Amino acid sequence: MFEERLAAIRDKRVKIAVIGLGYVGLPVACIFARAGFQVVGIDRVEEKVHQIRQGLCPIGGKEPGLAELVAQVVRDGRLSATTRYEECRDAGVVIIAVETPVDEETRRPKYEALRAALVSLGNHLSRGTLVIVESTIAPLTMERVVRPILEETSGLRAGKDFYLAHCPERVQPGRLLYNLEHMPRVIGGMTPEAGRLALELYRHIVRADLDVTDCLTAEIVKTTENAYRDVQIAFANEIALLCESLGADVWRVRELVNKCPQRDMHLPGAGVGGHCLPKDPWLLIANAPEGFQARLIPAARAVNDGMPLHVADLVVEGLRRVGKEVRGSRIAVLGYAYLENSDDTRNSPSEVLVRKLRELGAEVVIHDPYVPPYQGDLRERLRGCDAAVLMVAHDEYRHLNPAELDVPVVVDGRRVLEEGGHQRVIRLGRGDRQG
Ligand SMILES: NC(=O)c1ccc[n+]([C@@H]2O[C@H](COP(=O)([O-])OP(=O)(O)OC[C@H]3O[C@@H](n4cnc5c(N)ncnc54)[C@H](O)[C@@H]3O)[C@@H](O)[C@H]2O)c1
Repeated sequence: MFEERLAAIRDKRVKIAVIGLGYVGLPVACIFARAGFQVVGIDRVEEKVHQIRQGLCPIGGKEPGLAELVAQVVRDGRLSATTRYEECRDAGVVIIAVETPVDEETRRPKYEALRAALVSLGNHLSRGTLVIVESTIAPLTMERVVRPILEETSGLRAGKDFYLAHCPERVQPGRLLYNLEHMPRVIGGMTPEAGRLALELYRHIVRADLDVTDCLTAEIVKTTENAYRDVQIAFANEIALLCESLGADVWRVRELVNKCPQRDMHLPGAGVGGHCLPKDPWLLIANAPEGFQARLIPAARAVNDGMPLHVADLVVEGLRRVGKEVRGSRIAVLGYAYLENSDDTRNSPSEVLVRKLRELGAEVVIHDPYVPPYQGDLRERLRGCDAAVLMVAHDEYRHLNPAELDVPVVVDGRRVLEEGGHQRVIRLGRGDRQG
């Protein structure tokens, strides 16, 4: 069974099913289709499936090459899309790329989407199939969740009747296709054979290192990558808050700190969002045994979660300086996506800021060039506003002259506005004495 499957993958004779056609699954499906595989994408959202079938890309923002590639592989008949799991029956490889959030209150993994995908797949799993989980998951999820559900629903045994691997993704909105091809990948095999098959598969699309290891190591590597980044950003944010309170400029401090070798102080900012960074640190520690107490990771989360609320404080302070109350003020929030030039609004820091400002009695208007409900003319949106808050470094906002914004108070949460010319620009991380 193994040699046969290996040869079929090597010769691109296997059909690939990709479950979940979001920011990860859709580009993955497209790139395997472009490499010459027959690919079927499965999603539970009919509208998305319908769009892809027509060769249309449901992902917005600046995503180089993706819309063209979707159109091309659908036109060539290499990629199809469906809501039906029956399509997994004759797939030699099944890739799972569904969302894996955490609960907002408990911070525990919320695996509804993953469990549902596994149950549906298990009911249509055939002998010899290689199942790969690309979704980011908490350590031990492959062993405690993925394997038991698939075995129970399919009646097959992992390692004996089918192969199981975890190959976490390293894509990022704005660079989805580029990262898929150029980022090194870690492959965790439930058995050496599963690792070997997955290696053969990813060799077709990845032009970088492919490191094969076990599932637990792969789970820890992925969640650690993002937890590490979150901690580094939290450090920069803490220094930004310190600089503000001391009357210093964190941007200058950072520049000089980074002149010291082996220092890589990250950029502070108005908050950390997206599907991944705010939840992957919680996934990393979710299955830690009793007796292990994580301290740094939750502390970093708290610092980063506090940043949009700090921006709200800066707005209140700015308004106070021009003799206005936040209650009854009209405030424009520029940027609603979590990342520059993206349409992804998941866990957006702007959402937290908007909620807070509304709680304080402000009237809030939102502008974002990539998020449909908030698109439109920026100047028009700013008309009659008492304050504008820049939350996302979209290209459209870069190098805007604050004076042009024509509002009494401007708060820059990303340090993108031009220097000078406006008395009331409050820059995150820069204390009063810096002007
Ligand atoms: N977005 C990123 O930049 C990124 C980067 C690296 C890793 N990841 C990880 O990849 C995974 C997917 O993230 P994403 O951003 O693509 O999420 P997403 O929400 O954009 O896409 C998930 C898709 O899965 C579909 N889906 C959910 N349950 C399903 C089911 N039972 N059957 C069929 N379809 C189902 C949803 O409708 C959605 O289209 C997550 O675990 C995430 O942490 C994401």
